[in-house]
Amino acid sequence: MGFDPASTGSVNPQTPSREESNHRELPRSSRRARVLVVDDEPQVRSMIGSALERSGFEVELAISGRQALRLLESGVNFDLVLTDIVMQDVNGLALLERVHAQQPDLPVVMVTAVHDIGVAIDSMRRGAYDYLLKPFEREHLINTVHRALDHRQVMQESQNYQQSLEQMVRARTEMLHHAMEDLEHSYDVTLEALGDALDLKDSETEGHSKRVTAYTIALARAMGIPPEEIKVIARGAFLHDIGKMAIPDEILRKPGSLTSEEQELMREHCARGYSMLRKIPFLAEAAEIVFSHQEHFDGSGYPKGLRGQEIPIGARIFAVADTLDAITSDRPYRKAHSFDAAREEILRCSGSQFDPGVVEIFLKIPNELWQELRSEISGQNRRYSTFDIPPPEA
Ligand SMILES: [Fe+2]
Repeated sequence: MGFDPASTGSVNPQTPSREESNHRELPRSSRRARVLVVDDEPQVRSMIGSALERSGFEVELAISGRQALRLLESGVNFDLVLTDIVMQDVNGLALLERVHAQQPDLPVVMVTAVHDIGVAIDSMRRGAYDYLLKPFEREHLINTVHRALDHRQVMQESQNYQQSLEQMVRARTEMLHHAMEDLEHSYDVTLEALGDALDLKDSETEGHSKRVTAYTIALARAMGIPPEEIKVIARGAFLHDIGKMAIPDEILRKPGSLTSEEQELMREHCARGYSMLRKIPFLAEAAEIVFSHQEHFDGSGYPKGLRGQEIPIGARIFAVADTLDAITSDRPYRKAHSFDAAREEILRCSGSQFDPGVVEIFLKIPNELWQELRSEISGQNRRYSTFDIPPPEA
């Protein structure tokens, strides 16, 4: 098919060329590059084959497109395919298509006669690396093969680089994730210390913060609040009364009822807590809940008299949890009431003190859950943590 073995310096085992004396290094790999030569003309096939072998390549010959496909599918690793375009069965273009589908990194060089040049150019559009026009000189053949193999190597190296880059990014992301987890643990430890400090000052609240946090988390989950948001709400719930640190002991521990002046001072604990926490970046959002935890749904609460949706959802959930715990805990002046009594009271205040939407969900949760949480906290001295907030149920 137009191949001219007799031309000067052409593919002819008997004719030494400059290529032999000036032999280029094969690609940097531990094995010799393996080239699949596909041509249905025996003479052309063997001449290309032996020229390549003499230049140090490992060569496999295929007498047809079909045989080439069998070899490619048999698991033999090739570094390059050199194929004739016009063949009886599977032609060069079809072979190119199959190679590309199966091994996109494997370069294919088309071998063609002058009258097929249009097809050769078209094959490059379809992904062939290059083409060789028959008759070609042996040096041209070897150079083309080297260029194709170098190209393959560059592509592979860039692919490896990309992969190792992606691997590095994954590893770093994981490290960052662990660091964030550690940080979050230390946040929780810090918060617990803050809670303990408040308990020391105001013994009446002992255990209250942890219980109200557990109730708030359970209620927020039942409402379908996303886990990340629940963490913020939980921190707000846990620290809701932190502003009481700033309230004088004689007011905080006064056995009788407070004067209106004292009451005014006591009410400042929301704003005090807010200004304590809002400067701490990981508590800034929770600070909003601390600020509004005494607001009522109908606007009758404090400090702002916010109403309805103006009150952050976390604070609206907290309000129900807080009342639930207050009613079901002993007070110096009365014993604890039952969870049923708490349900009745919460239902009675739905729409006035509480968000009816939150109350509706609350009423669907059985008393057993609250009882379990309560005994878990008092029995096992459960630690404060937002870390085990599970993802919402599907
Ligand atoms: Fe409070």
